[in-house]
This record gives sequence, C-alpha cells and structure tokens, in this order.
Amino acid sequence: MPWTTQDIPDQRGKVAVVTGANAGLGYEASMQLASKGATVVLACRNSERAESAMAQLRLSVPDARAEVMRLDLSSLASVAQFADEFKRTFNRLDVLMNNAGIMFVPDRRETEDGFELTLGTNLLGHFALTGLLLDQLRDTAGSRVVSVSSFAHTRGEIDLDDLMFESRPFDGGAAYAGSKLTSILFAYELQRRFATNGVDSIAVAADPGFVRTNWLRHMRTGGVFDRVRASMLSAVLRFTGQSVEMGSLSLLRAATDPDVSGGEFYSPGGRMNRGYPVRAISSEASYDKDVARSLWETCEGLTGVAFQLDSPAAVALTPSTPKKETT
Ligand SMILES: NC(=O)c1ccc[n+]([C@@H]2O[C@H](COP(=O)([O-])OP(=O)(O)OC[C@H]3O[C@@H](n4cnc5c(N)ncnc54)[C@H](OP(=O)(O)O)[C@@H]3O)[C@@H](O)[C@H]2O)c1
Repeated sequence: MPWTTQDIPDQRGKVAVVTGANAGLGYEASMQLASKGATVVLACRNSERAESAMAQLRLSVPDARAEVMRLDLSSLASVAQFADEFKRTFNRLDVLMNNAGIMFVPDRRETEDGFELTLGTNLLGHFALTGLLLDQLRDTAGSRVVSVSSFAHTRGEIDLDDLMFESRPFDGGAAYAGSKLTSILFAYELQRRFATNGVDSIAVAADPGFVRTNWLRHMRTGGVFDRVRASMLSAVLRFTGQSVEMGSLSLLRAATDPDVSGGEFYSPGGRMNRGYPVRAISSEASYDKDVARSLWETCEGLTGVAFQLDSPAAVALTPSTPKKETT
C-alpha cells in the first residue's frame, strides 16, 4: 500500500518547525502537519511572503495552530534569534524539518558570515539551527530531525579542503549537489550521535523527487546561458516533475511515520524519481563515517555551535561570533 497523507498519525500536542515554509514543499508539509493538529512554526526569512503563506494556510486549515517566526538561514545571527524566540515560546519540539534550500545559484555568492551561499543556507544554517534547538529536541521524547536532500546528492562531491569553492571555479550545480550530500551526511552523523548518547530522538533524510516548485528562480538570476537553461529545465519539469503534494510525502513520512527509524532515507519509489515515498538507499558516499565526522567538526568550527549531547546543556557556543576567515 502506498504511503499517503492519510497515514499521517494524529499530530495534536506536537510542535513542528518547518524551514522555508512559505513556498513549495515547505508550505505543503506545514499545511499537512497543521491539518493533522500539529502546532506548526513557519520559519521564513521574508515576513510578507510568510504572512501570505499563513493566510493561505488558514484558508485550507481554518483551525490551524500555526505561527510565523523569522529565520534567515544565511545569517547565523538570525538563526540564533530564531532559536531564542522559539525557546521563549515553546517548551517542546517534536519535528524539526530542515527543508529550506537554494538551488543552482549562477555565481559564487556569500552569506553575511562569509560562507558560500548554497552551503551556508542548505547546510550550515540548518546545522546551527539544529544545534541551538538541541535541548528542546532532546527533552521531547521521540523527536525527529528531517534533513531534506535531493537525488542530486548522488552527484555530490565533497572537498573538505575547499567546501566554499574558494580555490576552484564555482559551479552552481556542483555546489547544490554537494550541499545535498552534506545534508544526508549530517542526518546520519546526527543519528549516530543521538544513539551513542542515548538520546530519544531520531535523524532522518528525505528526497522529495523532481517537483514542480519554483526552485529554478535562482538560476533565472544569472546570465543568458543560465536563463536559457532555466527555461529548458522548466519545460522538462512541467512534463516530468511531480506535484508538490506528491513530493512532500517523503518529507511527511520521514517526519511522522511511526515505522521510521533513525538514519533512514526516504525518497519516491517509482521510476524517474516520482511516486509514493519508500525507504531507500542513499549514495555510497553518504554513508562515509569518516567524511561525516570531519564535516561535522568543520561545521562546528564554522558556525561556532558545538553539540554536546552528553552534558546537561546540549549546546556550547564559542564566545566570539564565528566568522569564516577570509584571505
Ligand atoms: N523541487 C524539487 O524538485 C526538489 C528536488 C529535490 C530536493 N528539493 C529540496 O526541497 C527543499 C524545498 O525546495 P522547494 O522545491 O520547495 O523550493 P522553493 O519553492 O524554492 O522553496 C524554497 C524555500 O526555502 C526558503 N529559503 C531559501 N533561502 C532561505 C534562507 N536563507 N532562509 C530561510 N529560508 C530560505 C525559500 O524562501 P523565500 O521564498 O523567501 O526565498 C522558500 O520558502 C529544498 O531543500 C530543495 O533542495 C527540491
């Protein structure tokens, strides 16, 4: 039997944070979670877009328990502010859906902390966010962290000595694929750390498939070549992509199915990366424990957020604001 939204258990009493909840897959997942009774925090960077998504959500789910909190993953200061506000407002966190992402940025750009934008948003922002919410996750039995990855991770390569494309020519596709590989490495390493420290939380990765959202918009900000490529891909997406409702099922399954275990990966089970979500095997590179450990240490160094799962306060912050050293 295919897994559908009908299989989402009652979510009343649960609190979920969905990053990038104002559009695409994040919006759909938020709406579905709210319709099952979860209190959903729409973590979005732009207030106007967030409020408009909230209005839409209330039309679909009139009794939704949902609220907007500002989160810009390309700013560690914003991530810290979000975490503070969340902790002041909620005393539990059942689902952290690390969904927001940018794809195929045409040229090398940087976050306000000096990180390459794709890695900074897709991995480092979520790494810091998860670390800063670790106490809430640890205190909520059975909580889950869902890392939204992509089939593109299978093409991902990680150069730990040049994660930010400083010594090699920038390639938006390679940056995206690499960032999505890091999302899975992060999920599996987090799961190992939860298990080693006896934490009753799980970390899972999910791939939505090829989905008709607005993800090509970043490519459209490039030159003629990128804009033409975006138009061609848009046509392919229209004919071969799946709906956002179908795409969000992998995320929702990872977040809610009681049969899911930590360290698993969910993706569409049909041909051409479409279909209902099934448990799947991610790329060989994503299971590399040594790379995952090194990446983790690098993330701790870059973000200044250290996960301390064996101590009463789960997170340690370095005293000074971490900034990537620029040459
Ligand atoms: N669509 C696909 O075919 C596909 C395939 C595989 C994986 N995925 C993954 O699915 C996830 C969602 O993608 P989507 O297709 O729904 O794309 P989307 O429609 O472009 O939505 C992306 C969301 O991320 C938010 N976001 C971007 N940068 C952010 C930042 N710095 N801080 C906070 N939020 C930020 C966006 O906010 P704004 O609206 O403010 O920009 C938007 O809400 C991504 O992780 C993506 O890699 C998508």
